[in-house]
Parts: sequence; C-alpha cells; structure tokens
Amino acid sequence: MKRIFFKLFSFILAFFSLVSSAHSQQSFAAAQDSLKKLSVLDHQDMLEKLKITSLRPGANGSDSSAPNAVNYDETKANPFPKLPDALTFKNGNKVTAAKDWWLRRKEITEDFDREIYGRTPANTPRVNWKIVQSIDTVFDGIPAVQQKLSGQVDNSIYPDITVAIQLTLVFPVAKNNVPVVVEFTWGSFRRPGDTSKIAAPEWQVNCLKRGWGFALLVPTSIQADNGAGLTKGIIGLMNKGQRRKPEDWGSLKAWAWGAGRVLDYFETRKEINAKNVAIAGHSRYGKAALVTMAYDTRFAIGYISSSGEGGASLYRRNYGEITENVAASGEYHWMGGNFIRYAGPLSWNDLPIDAHELIALSALRPVFIGTGDKGDYWADPKGMFMAAAAAGPVYKLLGKKDMGSTVFPKVEIGLRDGEIAFRQHSGGHTAAPNWPSFLEYAAKYFDNKKN
Ligand code: GCU
Repeated sequence: MKRIFFKLFSFILAFFSLVSSAHSQQSFAAAQDSLKKLSVLDHQDMLEKLKITSLRPGANGSDSSAPNAVNYDETKANPFPKLPDALTFKNGNKVTAAKDWWLRRKEITEDFDREIYGRTPANTPRVNWKIVQSIDTVFDGIPAVQQKLSGQVDNSIYPDITVAIQLTLVFPVAKNNVPVVVEFTWGSFRRPGDTSKIAAPEWQVNCLKRGWGFALLVPTSIQADNGAGLTKGIIGLMNKGQRRKPEDWGSLKAWAWGAGRVLDYFETRKEINAKNVAIAGHSRYGKAALVTMAYDTRFAIGYISSSGEGGASLYRRNYGEITENVAASGEYHWMGGNFIRYAGPLSWNDLPIDAHELIALSALRPVFIGTGDKGDYWADPKGMFMAAAAAGPVYKLLGKKDMGSTVFPKVEIGLRDGEIAFRQHSGGHTAAPNWPSFLEYAAKYFDNKKN
C-alpha cells in the first residue's frame, strides 16, 4: 500500500514537473517572441527617423538556394577591397609623424561615433561599486578570493530606470598588484562555494596559475542585448526612457562604457594592477572587446575572439555575415542608428572608415585577433586577417611591430611577434582553443610592465 502510494506520488510529481517545464519553456518562447516584436517596432521607429523606407536583406546563412544566400566563395568576396587610408587626413595630407597620428585618430573616432557605433554621452553618471559577497575558495588547487560585485549606476537623473552592473572578480590569495583579464561573459561562472575542479573554464584556472586574476562582466546588466531594451539600461537611463536618436550609442558602446567603469573601480583596488588589465570577449562580445580597446586607452591588451561583422572583419567584404545583417532588427541595437543607412540608401563603399581603422585605434597597445576555421566562416576569418594587416602601418608609424605578414596563415599558426596578433584555431565558433595562445602573448606584456 505504502509502495503504491509512493509510486502514485512520484507519478504526480513527475507529471507536474513536466507540465511546469513545458509551461516555462512556453513562457520563455513567448517572452522571446514579444522581445522580437518590440525590437521590430523600435527598429521601425529608427527607420522613420532616418527616412528610410526599405533595406536590403542580409546574407541568408541557413538556405543555400535563397537568392541572398550567404557567400563563402573567396573569389566573390571582394578579395582586393579599396580601403580608406588610416594614415591620410580628411584634407588629403599624409600622416608621417607619430604625433600626427593622435590628431588623425580623432577624425577616425569621430567617424566611428557618427556612422557606426553612436556617441557615448559625455555626462554618464557615477557608478558606486559594492562587494556583495566575498569568499575564500580554491580553483584547481589554487587558493583564490572570489567576489561578487554590483556597480550601482547613479540614476538620479531618471529614477524610473535602475542599472546595476554585475561582476565576478577572482584573484589569487595574498597577492597584490596582479594583472586581471576581464571577460564580457556569456554567463558561465562558478557558483560561490563550488570547489570542484571541473567547474571553472581552463582559461580562468590558467590566469590564476600565472598569478593573475580574472573577472567576468555581465554585459546585459549594463545594456540589454536587444532593440526592445534600448529604452532601458544605461542607454535608456541617459535618454530618460525615450527612444534613441540616430547618433545615440548602441549596446556595443554601452558595454564598452561598463567595462571602463570596472576599470575605474580596479584602479582603487590594491590587489589589482590597473595598468595590466586585459579585455576579452567572443563573438558579439568580441566586437564589444574591440570597441572597448578602441575607446578606452587604459586597457592594456585585448583578446578579440570571432568578432566578425561589426567587429574586426572588413565591411567591404561579401563573405559570411554582411552589413545588412547587422542593420536588421535582430542586431541593429549593437550600433548607432546611422549605421542602418549602409544597408539602405548607402553601401559599404560610402563608409568613411573600415574595420582596420577600429583595430588601429588600439595602437600602440597589443591586440590579439582570434578566430576559428570551419564553423566560424560566418565571422569571415580572412576579412579579420585583412583588417589586422591593414592596421599594421599605424602600429609601425608608432614604432611598434605589425603582424609581420600579409599572407593568410595556416590554421593554428599564430602570428604573435608584433603588437597585432592573429591566430585561427580549428575548433569552430568558440574562444576556448585560442585562450592559451592569448595568455602566453599577454604574459609577454604583463611581465614587462610590473610596477
Ligand atoms: C550572430 C551574429 C554575429 C554575432 C553572433 C554571436 O551570429 O550574426 O554577428 O557575432 O551572433 O554573437 O554569437
């Protein structure tokens, strides 16, 4: 009798958990659907502001028979693009001395602000950091301190919107002044108190093994990763809940802004050497990491993984993802509104800048451009390599080393002798296989820069 009762009870429990999981899956799908719809409305609002009535479609990556099927044929990709010259001023004068680069850099930044990423407001509020939780823990045998932090953004200009930046910081016990690698995280970090060996990704353990710290920054706690969220987050706060204007910043700039506030905070912590802080990110967060390097010159080095279109790969290429994809309602929120024009009335040749100049904005600091091979073609590995090569003259003008080659290297042959590094791994769309190579590269710089 007891057993029958128990079985019945288990059955009822299983039934309800099935129903509730189906229900939560359904409500998740419904929430996603409504976000999509709201994003389409916001996108439409921006199109109206820009007076654009139609956009060209993006590359279709899932149907190879579609008229707009994605191109993976190098001969059709615009293999020899005519790129704007990073070292020519708008008035036609050439930049021949290192000191002139810093003037030319202003022109390039202005173009990226106005045409591509939007403008970060000058008067962004203060962020007040609090340690929410601090625990002594062990990562693969290495004693470490793991802290959960919350960066409360002062919202006195518009109290209806709250922004609290989420960060996890881990550093080796009893060490001060250590380098820290900050990653825009996709969400994987160990639960506090979890001391199991397998829970932390290898790169995190490797940072600790080198005596460095690492930090995981949650981008979506700064700004949502969708158009529907543009009236909230830090962008919404600055606009007091109103929709964006065409030159306002997009999520990439907002995420980069958040990374800068993390660095402000690190400057106040004795455990951290704020002059040795790296920024890393993969895919959309690879774009964010490159934008961070470009706009906040305090970051010492960047690991830019599979950043693709809108990141390190050239706009003037038709290979994998193209401008038109990023301008559509699923991705436009990464950029300033004006960028959408390049998928409508304008095209890539109208852009006054290209991705090589974004990479050049990192100069003279080292930057590591990573990518996968098969499985990562959507991000256009060759387009990223070409951009990295075209950024070389700026580094050289400043007395630094470029990649040392303009020939696309074989998979897993890293070009890491100069301040622009490039490596294509064989593992598809993931940052993991290039981490060891990046950490080795970063060590060269961190070791030289001990206080
Ligand atoms: C999509 C998008 C890419 C982006 C990627 C990601 O594939 O088209 O631009 O990098 O998502 O972030 O995973």
